[in-house]
Amino acid sequence: MNRMRRIVIICAVGIGSFALVFVGCMSTPIDPWAEPADDIRVELVEWARFAQNAHNYQSWRVVLDPERGDRMWLYTETERLLPETDPPARQVTISHGTFLAVMEARAAQLGFEATINLFPRGAYDLNTIGELPVAEIVVRESPGFASPVAVAAQVDAITQPTIKYRYRPADLETGILQAIEGWSSPEDGIEVRVVTDLTDVDWLNDLSRQAYELEMRNPATRDETYTSTRMTRRARRRTPYGLAYTANFRPALLRVVEISQALFPQNQEAWAQTGIDQFSESLADINTYIVITSDTNDRTTQVHTGRILQAVWMDVQSEGHVVLANSQALQEYPEMSELYARVHERLAPRGETVQMLLAIARPAEGRHLHSPRLPVEALIHEP
Ligand SMILES: Cc1cc2nc3c(=O)[nH]c(=O)nc-3n(C[C@H](O)[C@H](O)[C@H](O)COP(=O)(O)O)c2cc1C
Repeated sequence: MNRMRRIVIICAVGIGSFALVFVGCMSTPIDPWAEPADDIRVELVEWARFAQNAHNYQSWRVVLDPERGDRMWLYTETERLLPETDPPARQVTISHGTFLAVMEARAAQLGFEATINLFPRGAYDLNTIGELPVAEIVVRESPGFASPVAVAAQVDAITQPTIKYRYRPADLETGILQAIEGWSSPEDGIEVRVVTDLTDVDWLNDLSRQAYELEMRNPATRDETYTSTRMTRRARRRTPYGLAYTANFRPALLRVVEISQALFPQNQEAWAQTGIDQFSESLADINTYIVITSDTNDRTTQVHTGRILQAVWMDVQSEGHVVLANSQALQEYPEMSELYARVHERLAPRGETVQMLLAIARPAEGRHLHSPRLPVEALIHEP
């Protein structure tokens, strides 16, 4: 760290402590106890926007049926795709499953059943991705309706943020690990496996480190990730989607880092190296992984994978732990193909697709903030 940067950081610590009050105000982007919105569909979008999603790009576009108050459609927002990191839009499609899972869970919490009809006009390809709906969602009052996902959807579990780099090793009882595997869905050809064997965990940690480094050194993906990272508080507010340091630092330090970035932004290479160092170091505390594989890799399966991912995520959050998607080795651009092949050879020998690699950890003490989110109005569009 150069001298000037150090001085700025020291000065910023003072400013940072004042700023804490304001950051604190931003840390509760959803009030779980607020009165639900009058329109149940808006209420479901309000919550679903906190779903886990690739690069926090929130590629969701919702259209409310103007004639039927119980119906809406979910589309892909093509303004926010990740062509370099996720060329086939697989991760974007998984992120529709997470969104729908939170909708389903929130509806059940309020005594409604959300009936989700996937790809009512057929599955999209890369030419039709924004045009064909991912789902038609019909929401009907159904007191007592028991959604399996709602079991996991304790209010706190949905509203807690992801935490990156600030954790301790996982410490989960066998019963919880079995419950996680219980999210496997044989009828959809999806298997959820927990990995705790030391040799396998070491292998996955090493793979994750190599894949992260590759993503950050490969100019196209590094540029996409750099561009999608909101490095200052102002950027988070102005463009409230994309990655942010909220997941990486405690609120007080976050302020310092953001001020430092605003005054002396790191160039891409230096920024990538900082990320690689931070990521590699934090892997030392990972002792448990979840691997989600599927027999097929069509769009419907990808959405189902997202539903399972979100359910697992909420379950693990409810246990005071956190799920960290370490999915770089599953990205499908040519430079990643060797690592992609290696992970499939080991974890999917029957020709399955590895859909997600997830580490589990226990968050470090202290408060953690959410990545930014677009307001509900930005996700709802005219028919
Ligand atoms: C399909 C998918 C892939 C993801 N891949 C990664 C990843 O490779 N590395 C990572 O750190 N986070 C990954 N994430 C997590 C997102 O970054 C996270 O969900 C998003 O930033 C929202 O964070 P929040 O919980 O702080 O709001 C992934 C999420 C999804 C749904």
